[in-house]
Amino acid sequence: MNEPICNQIICGDARAILQTLPSKRVDCIVTSPPYYKQRDYEHSLQVGNESTVEDYIRRVLQVFAECQRVLKDTGTLWLNIGDKFSDGQLLGLPWRVAFGLVDQGWILRSDIIWHKPNAMPHSVKNRPTVDHEYLFLFANSPDYYYDADAIREPHVTFTGESRMRGGRNHFGKRNGTPEQGKNEGKSNLHDGRWDQAFHPLGRNKRTVWSVPLGKNRDAHFAVFPERLIEPCILAGSPSDGLVLDPFVGTGTVPTVAKRLGRRYLGIDLNPKYVAIATERVDQEQLPLFR
Ligand SMILES: C[S@@+](CC[C@H](N)C(=O)[O-])C[C@H]1O[C@@H](n2cnc3c(N)ncnc32)[C@H](O)[C@@H]1O
Repeated sequence: MNEPICNQIICGDARAILQTLPSKRVDCIVTSPPYYKQRDYEHSLQVGNESTVEDYIRRVLQVFAECQRVLKDTGTLWLNIGDKFSDGQLLGLPWRVAFGLVDQGWILRSDIIWHKPNAMPHSVKNRPTVDHEYLFLFANSPDYYYDADAIREPHVTFTGESRMRGGRNHFGKRNGTPEQGKNEGKSNLHDGRWDQAFHPLGRNKRTVWSVPLGKNRDAHFAVFPERLIEPCILAGSPSDGLVLDPFVGTGTVPTVAKRLGRRYLGIDLNPKYVAIATERVDQEQLPLFR
């Protein structure tokens, strides 16, 4: 793709369009396929309307087989997929798809819980109300790109004011880390503990991400909150990387990718959403630092 196909929203079936793309060009895929039997996307080829769960999973996996081919060896896939109750039984769809992807050769690296603090209340009385979804991080090879520093979060337990023994004396001081200075060589302050307590950019990002549903939540089912996918793009793609969403919907992924200085590619079956996504991305300004 050098690179006529870049920075576009393409209309068509995800698998068929992906099959036309060259191999190993994409740095990062962030996507949310239609959930099983949740909504009608008004097209005969839509994913999500299959008559059995097994057919749905097979169909989703076919798309991700093509995703795997177009992704670089260093690439990552961030997959949000919803679950469903059928006859009172939770289907476990996210994990069934995840295990199918592992069988396809993907490396499952993280099951991130997207906690929705403003999830809709529900009248259910015989089980807890669901207020989370999964966001899986898959890698295409063990040597995948991941910029942990780009998405560090504030230290919670240990701060400059921390009374933890040694904490106050080391935080933010020159020669004050366990790597240098009076605590040099103390293994209990090394590596993970140092990262946890003293890393100047914050602690390594955790696996529970609390992100409210955005105001667009009724306009199009499963619109990503921008804050949910920012960390995926920041950690999962280099600064000039190519970010793909094969089920692009209203275009949240390409919009955030463009804002963050990445190149983008989106695919959707429904021309209505292609138009919405294209307009939304076009309105997004390129970052000043480019
Ligand atoms: C869950 S929505 C994605 C929403 C998106 N994350 C956003 O932020 O707006 C899934 C999208 O997949 C599209 N879709 C369904 N079947 C498809 C297929 N076979 N190929 C490509 N897109 C498809 C639907 O039209 C819908 O826009």
